[in-house]
Amino acid sequence: MNHIFNSLGSNYSFSRALRALFFCASTAQKQKNRELLLSTLEQRFHATPFLAINGRSALAQYLTNTHFKKGSKVLVQAFTCYALEQAIVEVGFIPVYLDIDEKTRNPSPSDIQRHLSSDEEIAFVLLQHTGGHPAHIRQIHEICQKHHVILIEDLAQAFGALDEEIVPVGTYADVILLSFGRDKIIDAVTGGAILVKHTSYQVAPNHNTNPLFARWYPIITWCIRMCYPIGVGKILHKIFQKTGALHSPIDEPVDRVHQLSDLNVSLVLDALEEHAPLSAHRKQMYLEYQKSLEKYSAFSKNKGVPSHLRYSILVEDPTQIISYLEKKGIHISDRWYRKPVDGGSIFSSQWYQTGTCKTAEHLAQHVLNLPTHRYISIDDVRYISKEILQWMHSHAKK
Ligand SMILES: Cc1ncc(COP(=O)(O)O)c(C=O)c1O
Repeated sequence: MNHIFNSLGSNYSFSRALRALFFCASTAQKQKNRELLLSTLEQRFHATPFLAINGRSALAQYLTNTHFKKGSKVLVQAFTCYALEQAIVEVGFIPVYLDIDEKTRNPSPSDIQRHLSSDEEIAFVLLQHTGGHPAHIRQIHEICQKHHVILIEDLAQAFGALDEEIVPVGTYADVILLSFGRDKIIDAVTGGAILVKHTSYQVAPNHNTNPLFARWYPIITWCIRMCYPIGVGKILHKIFQKTGALHSPIDEPVDRVHQLSDLNVSLVLDALEEHAPLSAHRKQMYLEYQKSLEKYSAFSKNKGVPSHLRYSILVEDPTQIISYLEKKGIHISDRWYRKPVDGGSIFSSQWYQTGTCKTAEHLAQHVLNLPTHRYISIDDVRYISKEILQWMHSHAKK
């Protein structure tokens, strides 16, 4: 049986996995790579980039470098990753959660306006373009300007997306947050960056970090995936998890001391180079899902262009369908997000109050993400869609 995964290193080709494993470069080459990455990001976003070991550390570094005092508030959408709260709380700021809109699955401009009008302590709006689907970002930018609030756009899932006016996401931001973590659009195993427009910013820390995990993760996951058809993959996966060789992507620190490793820099450059052809591939897979699963789509069509990171559908009970698909060789238990502020089984939000963001809660209970990555073919999409429809129909009859 062909085995299909949502994640488990599915963003890396075998040659990339080998390059990571045997990465070695001269000091001059490492410096050249770093400068190339910084200039590529700067040219793309017209902002000054700073690299960090992950997205949350980049955000924490930025927030501490602003003139805002501790206790300042950051308006964050619910249906998000706990990593953002982790960074905000680490530096003594407060996350304030707002719900997403039922139609766009992003915070609505009017809701943001309402929050900013009623709470003057909100200094930042942090928006993430849910699942890579652009929000009404120009309007949100205008509201932020009116209230003198800093707009941070988190492009971890939305890198490369275009808004409804076909303007690239990040264009209206004061600050752009990138994560190069596992299964993001630009996947370098770990890593992050913050790009700041308009204001000056102190130099980020420059202590080296050990890239051991980034060196091994692509090849370990490649071996696991390859061994699934012979029945050993599952066992290997369990062993690597139990021994700590593989850990959850959420289980990362906020680290304001170390900088992005040279290996990660090189992996980010690889991912940026592959971004255009892989985006085209993702789009093709996404449109193929759309042909048969549109009725169940979690996102309605709009004028913009999403990043096509995954195709999201709504199902009554994700756990049931996940175990059904598991038996068919489709491993998609890795859902975004399972809670309004998802910290996996490790963290739970201290600031989100149950019942306050009902749309985010509903989406978290019902969303199922389907893969579009490089190893998915049109035939895989058809197979996944067929199995999902079969399950849906058999359950509709009951
Ligand atoms: C939308 C989004 N932004 C940022 C992050 C933080 O990323 P990192 O793991 O690089 O800190 C996450 C976490 O997965 C995320 O889902």
